[in-house]
Parts: sequence; C-alpha cells; structure tokens
Amino acid sequence: MPSLFETCYRMDGKLTDKAERLAVELERNPPAYFDGLHMTLLEGVKPITKVRMPSGEVKEMLMLGSNSFLNLNHHPRVLEAERKAAEKYGVGAGSPPLYAGTTDIHAELERKLAEFCHTEDALIFPAGYSGNIGVLSGLCRMGDAIFCDSSNHASLFDGARLSGAEVIPYLHLNTSHLQLKLEGCKAAGKIIVTDGVFSMEGSLAPVDELVRLKNQHDTMLMVDDAHGFWAVGPGGQGTASLFNCRDEIDIHYGTFSKALGYTGGFAAASHVVIEYLRYYARSTFFSSALPVTVAAGVLEAMKVVEEEPVHLQNLKRNRDFFQNELERRGFDTLNSRSAIIPLLVGDEAKLGALQMALFNDGIFSNIGTTPAVKASRCRLRLNVMATHSLEQLAVAADIIERHARKLGILPEN
Ligand SMILES: Cc1ncc(COP(=O)(O)O)c(C=O)c1O
Repeated sequence: MPSLFETCYRMDGKLTDKAERLAVELERNPPAYFDGLHMTLLEGVKPITKVRMPSGEVKEMLMLGSNSFLNLNHHPRVLEAERKAAEKYGVGAGSPPLYAGTTDIHAELERKLAEFCHTEDALIFPAGYSGNIGVLSGLCRMGDAIFCDSSNHASLFDGARLSGAEVIPYLHLNTSHLQLKLEGCKAAGKIIVTDGVFSMEGSLAPVDELVRLKNQHDTMLMVDDAHGFWAVGPGGQGTASLFNCRDEIDIHYGTFSKALGYTGGFAAASHVVIEYLRYYARSTFFSSALPVTVAAGVLEAMKVVEEEPVHLQNLKRNRDFFQNELERRGFDTLNSRSAIIPLLVGDEAKLGALQMALFNDGIFSNIGTTPAVKASRCRLRLNVMATHSLEQLAVAADIIERHARKLGILPEN
C-alpha cells in the first residue's frame, strides 16, 4: 500500500491540492514515526545531547542517529581551524569556484583529497547531493548507459536521470544480474555506479567484482563512498581499500557530511576527468563554492584523522561491540559492516512505536522506510559514533531489546 507521502505526491489537481491534503492527513492521522522527524538538537552532535521534542519537552538523549561517525564536531583543532579561516577570509565564498570562489584553502583541500584517494586531481562540491547530480549529468548524455545498484542513494539516481542517459538498475549487490545487463548493452559510453557503504543497511558493495566487470566490459566505475571514507578500511580509506582495489576506481566520490561531520562533496579522478567536470558539472559551475570556513575545517578534520588514530580505533571498537550486542539478542542487522547498524523490523506501525518508545527512554534513533526502502523491509537505523562509551551502547542495547520484545519485534523471552 502506498504511504501517505507517496499518495499525496501522486495526486492530480492543482499543485496546492496535494499540499493541503497532506496537511489535513497529518493533522488527522500522523504516522507513528512523525514526531521522530521533528526533533531539534539544542547543542549539536554529542554522544549525550539535549533535544527538544515536538511536545516542547527538552531531554538529554543518547545520540544514535547522527552520521557524524567520528564526532569531530567539537574537536578543538577543527574549531580553531574554522575560527582562523573566518578571521582571515571572512565567511562565505561569494562566487562559484571558477569565478571568485576558490581560495588557497580550497585548492589545498582538493590536493589533499586527490592524495587521499590516490588520484591525480579532485573537485569539491557545495553539497554531497548536488555533487552527484553534477558528476553524472555532466559526464553522461542521451545514448550513454548508467548501471545503478538498485539501493544506490537518491542523488545518484537523480543525477543519472537528469543526464538523459539510459538508467539501468541492477538487483542490489547482484553482480550476476549486472553482468547480464552489461552483456545486453550496446552503448559506447557506460558507467557502473554504486554506493561503497549502503546508507540504509551499512553493507558494502562488492567492489572487487565490480572492478572485474568494468574491465571485462570496458566501462567506467564510480564508487560513492559517502559513508565509507574516514570510517571503514585501514586509515579510513574507504570500501575499495578493503578490497585492495582503490586504484582501479575511475571516479571516487565522497562527502564531508558523514564521518567528518561537515557538509560538502567531492569527486576524485584523473586530471582530465576532473578538469572536464569543472566546466560541465553544473552544480559546481553554477553554484557558489563551499564556504572557506568549511573547507578549512574539513582540511583540519582530515589531518586529525591521520594524526590521531584513536578516533578510527574507537569507531571500530564501538561498532563491533554494538553489532555483537544486538545480534546476540536476536536482531537481524542486515549484514552491516560499517558504523550504520540497522535492525530489521518489517512492520511500519511497530517500527514507529519502537522509535517513539526509544525517544521516551532517551535514545535518539532514525528509521528507514518508504521511499528509501520497502515498507516490508523497514528498519530502525542506529548510527554508532567514536565518542560513545561501551557502557552507553550496552545500556542502549538492553533498552532496545526490552521494547522490541514488548512490541513483538523479537519473541518474548
Ligand atoms: C551515498 C550517499 N551519497 C550522497 C549523499 C548526499 O550527501 P549530503 O548529505 O552530504 O548531501 C548521501 C547522504 O546520505 C549518501 O548516503
């Protein structure tokens, strides 16, 4: 059955009709998870942080809902780098990169990103979402073919559709299905596009297999490792590094918005591809550059990750511990290999009730349901940070288990 949000979006009539219908339906019968979408953080991302609930009540909550995996948001070196950049350059970029928007800090960040990805060059975008739109719609045209894992992030599908190329989805993680699609394709311009870490389940793309297929079928390969860079693999070098094939990826894509806790995206590739994208990726050419304070903070955060290995060590320790705690209580964590740990629920009403019960008990979590995943595969989405203590995670696992048993998500003991 289509969700309320899908029903309203598909409605015919004047454009305001659907907006009014949504307002009426939400007033009359809000979905169980609705409050969860309207929490306000009063002191930013911390393991325990103050949150205002829609009722107005302010609570301290254990933060299990942030993508800021390393939780460097309050790190003194990062804060200092931002402050110094603001003093020297002021705030804001004022122009797109190719006009007056590039400072020496932006240039240094691009060099550092290229070095990090072992590529010749890199290009920064003002947001992770818009960068994917720019890369795919800039690179591909009608007559080309874009092969997309069916669970790829929306920005990859949106960029692919905007390009006018044929968008060819393949079954999630299913390289045999991809092979069939590649064999039937006559286009000369071809690219395989995949998330590195899948954002709704924390699982990894089979990058080594994708490299094999791209070589066999003479296509490009783009890996969007938004959730993998600075979070998985040795030194946080990302998903491809776990498969020892970083240097075989044609376009590395990442965001500053997950492990580093910032905003912005980047592509790293050969010099000719990046130069081409500087002119043809419209979301950089026609969009103001990333604020210089952000570029300075990201640069410093990257150095912190390199020079203070404790952050990555703690993240790994925490995610291994928490996944183990949840699995031994009987939860299905959908083969997660990253700091995103989903708990399969499969029933939207139960999921909403679980999330609200957790809010009331001081645990901030997110949910994954339509349109991101099918309602029958809906899940609680828990994100671990490097700054959590093992005790906090153990207590959280107990609370989640208690509510899940009460709601019939796990069998009674
Ligand atoms: C794989 C992937 N790519 C791109 C994005 C968009 O990044 P941003 O939130 O920085 O715009 C996300 C966001 O969740 C993502 O998971």
